[in-house]
Amino acid sequence: MPGCGHAIDSIQNRKIIQAGNPGKLKFSLVIALSMLYLPLISQSGWSVVANSVWKITVGKKQPITLLSAANSAPKYDALESLERVPFPLDSTKIHFEVIDGKTYLRFPLQRAEEIYGFGLNFQTQNQRGRILNLHVDHYGGQDNGRTHAPVPFYLSTEGYGVLIDAAQYLTVYAGTAVRVEADDPPQLMDRNTNPAWQAQPYSDAVEVLVPADGVEVYVFGGPSMLRVVQRYNLYCGGGYLPPKWGLGFTQRVPTLYNAEAILQEADEFAAHDFPLDFIGLEPGWQSMAYPCTFKWDDSRYPDPQGLLSQLSVKGIRTNLWLNPYVSPIASLYDSIRPYSGSHTVWNGLVADFTLAQPREMFRQHFMKNLLNIGVSGFKIDEVDGFDSWLWPDVARFPSGTPAEVMRQTYGLTLQRMTAEWFHEKNQRTYGLVRGSNAGASALPYVLYNDYYSHKDFITALINSSFIGVLWTPEVRASDSAEEWLRRMQSVCFSPMAMLNAWSSGTKPWSFPEVEEEVRAVARLRMQLLPYLYTAFARYQKEGIPPFRAMQLEDGYDALSKLDATLAIRYQYMMGESLLVAPMFAGDSTRQVALPPGKWFDFYTGAYVGDGEWITVKPGLEHIPLFVKDGAIIPMTAPRNQAPLPGEKLSLVVRKYGQQEGRYMLYDDDGVSFDYEKGAFSWSELTAKFENGAWKPELKIGNTAAFNYSQNITWIFMGQ
Ligand code: GAL
Repeated sequence: MPGCGHAIDSIQNRKIIQAGNPGKLKFSLVIALSMLYLPLISQSGWSVVANSVWKITVGKKQPITLLSAANSAPKYDALESLERVPFPLDSTKIHFEVIDGKTYLRFPLQRAEEIYGFGLNFQTQNQRGRILNLHVDHYGGQDNGRTHAPVPFYLSTEGYGVLIDAAQYLTVYAGTAVRVEADDPPQLMDRNTNPAWQAQPYSDAVEVLVPADGVEVYVFGGPSMLRVVQRYNLYCGGGYLPPKWGLGFTQRVPTLYNAEAILQEADEFAAHDFPLDFIGLEPGWQSMAYPCTFKWDDSRYPDPQGLLSQLSVKGIRTNLWLNPYVSPIASLYDSIRPYSGSHTVWNGLVADFTLAQPREMFRQHFMKNLLNIGVSGFKIDEVDGFDSWLWPDVARFPSGTPAEVMRQTYGLTLQRMTAEWFHEKNQRTYGLVRGSNAGASALPYVLYNDYYSHKDFITALINSSFIGVLWTPEVRASDSAEEWLRRMQSVCFSPMAMLNAWSSGTKPWSFPEVEEEVRAVARLRMQLLPYLYTAFARYQKEGIPPFRAMQLEDGYDALSKLDATLAIRYQYMMGESLLVAPMFAGDSTRQVALPPGKWFDFYTGAYVGDGEWITVKPGLEHIPLFVKDGAIIPMTAPRNQAPLPGEKLSLVVRKYGQQEGRYMLYDDDGVSFDYEKGAFSWSELTAKFENGAWKPELKIGNTAAFNYSQNITWIFMGQ
């Protein structure tokens, strides 16, 4: 029944909904109305909710969805500025059914189509051919859907994306299930005689089981995969722009450190001339942890406010670890108890934050005791799993919210609550979280976990760019100086440059034989701050992930076909034009896929290749970095801390290759939300080749929000 709209087959007591093709509708009308952001309901049931974003509600609308928990407001203007594309799927092949309280979804797949996303996976990129149970959990070593951000969003090499906005545990058959009436069935083969027979036959669909009597589904248009991701991020509120200090180096100290040890740690960083912008305190800052009191331990921290201001004088901010489970000895306990679930976590109450009262109780406590005395951010731990210590699915919550929905959204809710407190203070924060989900791009948090494979950490970093989250491949300890250095190099080219010494007590200089190289890469990150900050500004305003999979780059397609034996793995883009290819301990060479166009070595400016696979032998001191022809990379002199508001820095701008270049440099005060009221600048850096010489130029967008001196040192590399 193609194009029949909603049909109700009452005999079998099921609802069958097949979507017609909005591309065939009067599209100008769609355009006109979507410009006004009025949802237009097409015959097929899909409504246009923003430029090239469609939505359908199948069955009953659920009270809590992932997007409603994240509560991020779509950036309609930014979406509007992108090109308009027709509905990107053959909607006659999209199929929905609600049967006995469960919703069955099916989306078509083409033969060569690859699909990415479906959560924060650590070992695989293309999810086609996989079965996933999307479930917020601590990653257990297998890409099976149980992970820290099991985001039910996928994007396709065919240039579209699908979000299943459901806060239930979803079962995804990502191109594994074969129907009797498949549109494109697998070839029949005899295993006895045909060596090409496969245990997993070809499947022409993504199928999803939603254990609820309805779901909201979104489709995002392309045409490129990057556009799909941009539209998804913008629909979720755009990316988050961290404060400048958030992009500096951070050290998390051992659990039982005290105020004195922390001040000493800060001094040691200075003595080692090592970057440090914020310090993270682990569970021991509290009088009790697991469950938590959210109160300073008097013996270790007799004067918390004094400590925070002493650190602040040194230019260092403070981030506090917590899990949200309320200890019986916490001052919040009695007031939270009527608003908490039936089960405890480590004897602590699990507040039902879908209710306004406990949210407000937490807000008041945290504002008064922590934010108002100078705490700059949080690490929100244990909002993911494991099952054996979190609340069970049989737990009941006073709002009536099912335990399962609570599990899928608890991390999102905590992120959103804390983000709102900082926003209220007009103060940007940047912290850590272990559980997240769809809709999180505008939230000020980076994911991490206890798993510790360097290679898998890089895969997670790459996969995070498909699903609107950030990931840090944190460093904790290492078996060798080489591993230490290689991990440090990677983390300095990630969303958060963090050493998490909570149990190891390691310092960046713990392996003296590579101390110099570790310092060099941390300071290189600091030098790149103008470039990195601009990349995050583009995340926020345009939805472009600051750290991106190669699949999101032009030319990926051609390159991946060039040599089918080489999978493009363990390399990614940072910002507009820097390709990062981390090294792993034990390897002295590696292969790198360079998309079409000339590429240059970041350090030397040497030409390295064009649309090809190359082998590099970088030596211990460098993480391989490559730069696109024509790229302009704004940097500063090496320094150990991000600039304070109003502090003017000198720019050192590198221009690579033979092509003329143009780069838009973003700036603002680096700490507040005043940019929301226009206090920011986009300045244009250009390098043109005229009369046999390079002519560089800077055009400042808004002098009031431009914190660089106009005296720029230009360095031309790779001529
Ligand atoms: C873990 C967390 C670690 C550290 C530790 C402190 O759950 O992943 O990074 O914070 O708790 O007890």
